[in-house]
Amino acid sequence: MVNTFLATMIVIGGLATVSVHTYAAEPYAPPQGVELSPDLLNLLRAEMREIAEGVQGIAVSLATADWKSIQETSTKIRASYIMEKKLTPAQTKELEQALPDSFKKLDAEFHQRAERLGEAAAAHDSELVAFHYSRLIESCTVCHSAYAKSRFPGFSSPAHQGHSH
Ligand code: HEC
Repeated sequence: MVNTFLATMIVIGGLATVSVHTYAAEPYAPPQGVELSPDLLNLLRAEMREIAEGVQGIAVSLATADWKSIQETSTKIRASYIMEKKLTPAQTKELEQALPDSFKKLDAEFHQRAERLGEAAAAHDSELVAFHYSRLIESCTVCHSAYAKSRFPGFSSPAHQGHSH
């Protein structure tokens, strides 16, 4: 079974791989070194925005002990809801082949953290939810700093951004 979250991450993995290996045959030159067909890139970004929106709500849900919402967000992240409906089998296959192992690992960790967050919410354990929430955010930053640095230049060291010590 290929779940939808993995499909998302396969898309991202495809991005990351393609950005590393530049294909001269590509007729376009996307900014920041990422090469992906516009459709796939749009799907990925839409997926990411959905995830971001869900994650933003967690802070207030935690503060108000709205465990159900946190569990729902956890489920949504784990089953990322857009990709499955929109990816063609050919796209899925192509991206599966392009997915690097290091990316799969980050994908798996992200998936697990979302799951633990949901479990902590089910147990009404606010301290544990806070812990897994911070770990979840950390996994966003780990992946982005490795695979989306061009998209998010803030992950570059200050020295590269014109500051000095
Ligand atoms: C396993 C890798 C990975 C993880 C985990 C991940 N992202 Fe991303 N994300 C990416 C990549 C790669 C891009 C860059 C896509 C591009 O080049 O436009 C991205 C882009 C985004 C964007 C920009 C979307 C847009 O409209 O351009 C947002 C927002 C985002 N991620 C939020 C998050 C949040 C919040 C989390 C954690 C809860 C997260 N991501 C976890 C890989 C990841």
